[in-house]
Amino acid sequence: MSKKFYIETLGCAMNVRDSEHMIAELTQKEGYEPTENLEEADLILINTCSVREKPVHKLFSEIGLFNKRKKEGAKIGVCGCTASHLGEEIIKRAPFVDFVLGARNVSKITKVLHTPKAVEVDIDYDESQYAFGEFRSSPFKAYVNISIGCDKQCTFCIVPHTRGEEVSIPADLIIQEARKAAQSGAKEIFLLGQNVNNYGRRFGSDHPKINFTELLRRVSEIEEVERIRFTSPHPLHMDDEFLEEFARNPKICKSMHMPLQSGSSRILKAMKRGYTKEWFLDRALKLREMIPDVSISTDIIVAFPGESDEDFEDTMDVIEKVRFEQIFSFKYSPRPLTPAKDYENQVPDAIASERLTRLQARHNEMLDEMKAERQGKIYQVYFEELRPGGMVAGRTDNNWLVQVKGSEELLGRTLDVKITEAGRLYGYGEVIA
Ligand code: SAH
Ligand code: F3S
Repeated sequence: MSKKFYIETLGCAMNVRDSEHMIAELTQKEGYEPTENLEEADLILINTCSVREKPVHKLFSEIGLFNKRKKEGAKIGVCGCTASHLGEEIIKRAPFVDFVLGARNVSKITKVLHTPKAVEVDIDYDESQYAFGEFRSSPFKAYVNISIGCDKQCTFCIVPHTRGEEVSIPADLIIQEARKAAQSGAKEIFLLGQNVNNYGRRFGSDHPKINFTELLRRVSEIEEVERIRFTSPHPLHMDDEFLEEFARNPKICKSMHMPLQSGSSRILKAMKRGYTKEWFLDRALKLREMIPDVSISTDIIVAFPGESDEDFEDTMDVIEKVRFEQIFSFKYSPRPLTPAKDYENQVPDAIASERLTRLQARHNEMLDEMKAERQGKIYQVYFEELRPGGMVAGRTDNNWLVQVKGSEELLGRTLDVKITEAGRLYGYGEVIA
């Protein structure tokens, strides 16, 4: 009987890709098979996130539970950003943990597996030329890393301390990986990095300079690739050349993530985001002008230290003007190793909650209006997933999840769908071609 592993992945798309890589290594090099049943696993992995405090708190209770439920002799490994940031402390606080593997060290999974109490959390480790394993959570979509780490120093963010400085992956490796994936059925390529449009800033070895716009062109030249998505771009680096390529290139999906964080130029400065409210609005509105049906999503932090009512009104003003399709909004959470945790004027939690509730409520109202405008329209949907009740789900070019009645034969196909019911989360419709 082969050995089995159970894996839980928290956090961002980069963590999903890191997990895919570990799964490929475990299945191809170590003879493991995946299981969804924790009790029968010989190896239990948790791939953690550390951007906010809550998930970190939950980590120890969660692995405690793993330890109670695991079968005799099974190993437990803690991976990802919290592993990078807490390192050995994890084994000190939870001595039953067998190894700790940082977010920038996932290619060492087969090594730590055989080294008792291993702690591999070096954030200078260069994984940029390590060919990531071939495993995909979805056969129809391939995540492809284009850079690791982040060179920004946003004052609230722990990521540069857990993933290290930014190194771009050589373009040839990216193209090779994208081509292989597309040829084997993943017609959608999802390019990943903390700051994708800063691509080309630094390579781990000698490499001709190419920027993100050029990389997008090259990926789009791969014949089998039908759709390109990417996350996260940084508003600061959204120059005209980039926005124009985005608008012009038919293979690039028309959904853009523009992480605003705050609408107040004063707060953006304290966050060291490098742009102002006016710059952000200028970029977003240019995008809308070029592509009226573009969907723009964002991340917002409310109640950053020193955020006044007036600053918060600036954030509300930006959401009115941009009309975001999706807002990932959270209260500011003080993180270790970041300058903002020591700022004076931390905002009381009651005010933070009030602002978050108001922002989310207004966003929901706007969403209902936006979605209602889509009723009866026709969208191209790339079908990726079977859903309960004889439904099949896919995404429109502008990243809306749409379901239709159907079965396997729709999977992997891009078809025209007429929307019959435009809900907040999902659209429902009928295939017309
Ligand atoms: N490189 C990405 C951000 C990665 S972190 C970008 O620029 O978009 C993902 C999101 O977590 C951030 O956009 C931010 O909104 C949120 N986040 C990061 N640190 C946070 C903190 N200390 N408190 C609350 N939210 C935070
Ligand atoms: Fe974090 Fe800012 Fe980089 S949010 S990941 S430091 S761009």
